[in-house]
Amino acid sequence: MKKILIIGASSAIAQATARLYCAEDVHFYLIGRSRRRLKIVQEDLMARGAGKVEIDPTDPVRLADNQGVVSRAVQVLDGVDLALIAHGELSDQKACETSAEKTIRSLNINAISVISLATLIANHLEERGEGTLVVISSVAGDRGRASNYVYGAAKSCVSTFMEGLSHRLFRTGVSVITVKPGFVDTPMTEQFEKGLLWTQPEIVAEGIKKAIEKRKSTVYLPWYWRWIMQVIQLMPDPLFKRIFPVSEVGKDQSESHVEQRAE
Ligand SMILES: NC(=O)c1ccc[n+]([C@@H]2O[C@H](COP(=O)([O-])OP(=O)(O)OC[C@H]3O[C@@H](n4cnc5c(N)ncnc54)[C@H](OP(=O)(O)O)[C@@H]3O)[C@@H](O)[C@H]2O)c1
Repeated sequence: MKKILIIGASSAIAQATARLYCAEDVHFYLIGRSRRRLKIVQEDLMARGAGKVEIDPTDPVRLADNQGVVSRAVQVLDGVDLALIAHGELSDQKACETSAEKTIRSLNINAISVISLATLIANHLEERGEGTLVVISSVAGDRGRASNYVYGAAKSCVSTFMEGLSHRLFRTGVSVITVKPGFVDTPMTEQFEKGLLWTQPEIVAEGIKKAIEKRKSTVYLPWYWRWIMQVIQLMPDPLFKRIFPVSEVGKDQSESHVEQRAE
């Protein structure tokens, strides 16, 4: 039986990914902070033919519980084959700018809790000598911008951590994958107007499945974000600051602000 652990299982991207693995011989263990939302995902996966789906309503951001959560999952599944960490929250950039407390809260949700769980899961996989750990980061972590640098800093921290983890486990049978989506139409981004570069969670899910099969280390989804981010990263600072002027993003929640924050 294939044993799959998903943290932040109510996420639209996580759910779309889980659906791709629904089969009689698959055992899911779903973690998230809302029992109600986990139950909806559980019923959906069962209806789609999953062999066994168990839920564990626990807040992944409560660090003190992380060891217990992972141990429970490992015990119930009798070892993890594939783990996906998907929880995350778009930071309120403006609120964070005037509140160190809100900034730290955002870093805890988007970086610290993810790193805590990734450490525990990676050590379990290393002990087993096999398995895959997938973490959803973001293209927002590739370059800091005035419009979303708190969220971006958290994702950057996750991406660098995962890069190092992947290097550490290179010679083991464990595969460590960082997923960097661009703009995805999910509840997290429901307040934003959607444009040309937007995609659906199902497309990202297909990309995640392919990355797992090909044992990739880092994957941009959809693929064109690799090239967009390469251009953005190579852009000289003065040009970058002129193209994304702070005054434009600082004044109000204008469309360009929204587009820049969305990832
Ligand atoms: N959508 C995008 O454009 C985009 C782009 C790049 C990266 N990402 C990343 O993709 C991942 C999945 O997001 P999504 O787009 O699928 O959004 P989503 O459907 O809104 O899912 C967000 C997930 O994070 C959980 N979550 C949110 N705030 C939380 C908190 N304070 N404490 C604990 N859990 C919390 C949610 O749980 P509840 O159901 O309990 O709220 C849900 O499981 C996230 O890591 C996100 O940063 C998204």
